Amino acid sequence: MTKPALKAGVIGQPIDHSLSPYLHGFWLDEYAVDGEYSSFSIESKNLDAFLKGVVDQGWRGVNVTLPYKQSVLELVDQADDNALRIGAVNTVVVQEDGRLFGTNTDGFGFLENLKDHVPNWNASAGPAVVLGAGGAARAILVALQDSGAPEIRLLNRTKARAEKLAQELGGVIKVYEWENRAKILAEAETLVNTTSLGMHGQAPLDIDLADLPVRALVNDIVYTPLETNLLISAKQRGNVIVGGLGMLLHQARPGFFSWFGINPKVTDALRKHVIMALKK
Ligand code: ATR
Repeated sequence: MTKPALKAGVIGQPIDHSLSPYLHGFWLDEYAVDGEYSSFSIESKNLDAFLKGVVDQGWRGVNVTLPYKQSVLELVDQADDNALRIGAVNTVVVQEDGRLFGTNTDGFGFLENLKDHVPNWNASAGPAVVLGAGGAARAILVALQDSGAPEIRLLNRTKARAEKLAQELGGVIKVYEWENRAKILAEAETLVNTTSLGMHGQAPLDIDLADLPVRALVNDIVYTPLETNLLISAKQRGNVIVGGLGMLLHQARPGFFSWFGINPKVTDALRKHVIMALKK
């Protein structure tokens, strides 16, 4: 008897724009895994039943995207420390006993993307500036804290949101006024944009980089466009820049490994494949 294909997928709403099926599909082909990865638009009231169905039907697990990353944390049987601190789950793995295990790989994706492009980047080298205080910022702040950033300067248009995050996460996070975003760049080693500014259809991120040391690494988690205005300005003045697509690609690796048993690589071929899907 042949074994049934290993099954996984991504759940969210809306789900049409998810790139996860393209990247997991690429890896399934590349590593000749007898597996399937599909996307599912789920209504909030059906989330719990869907996850139970995932177990009953013998799936390996799912990725979770907006708007369910927080609610799935409440629905899994067990969550790791990372998911608990971030307050959100992006990867669910069905255990052998049928229990659902939730983790969050966004911070891993963020760090691996930086290391992939700038192997000698080191969070502990100096202060990091993080713009934005949404869900993505949360994962990145935890990752920067865990990597030994000596100081994290957090700025958000809505300051109260940044203050709440800083209070919850503690450690070396200090909140500054959004209006002071240019001045706060002095002596920074890392600058990360986690806001949606600069994304296709959004206003550009308006920030004067004059005070940012030229040795600093500049990362934008926005990947549409692949090179945002922030990255273009940073490159022009000599900073090393890293785009956001790699974070998406790397965050997918632990899930693929847990479900399909292979630690997949982020290659130029994968990048090209996903960029083609972005252009569709
Ligand atoms: P995600 O969970 O993906 O990070 P989000 O929670 O919607 O998304 O967060 C979007 C981020 O972009 C927030 O930090 C938001 O700032 P507010 O908390 O003040 O809303 C930021 N953002 C969006 N539009 C902005 C704008 N025009 N100017 C400044 N910041 C903006």
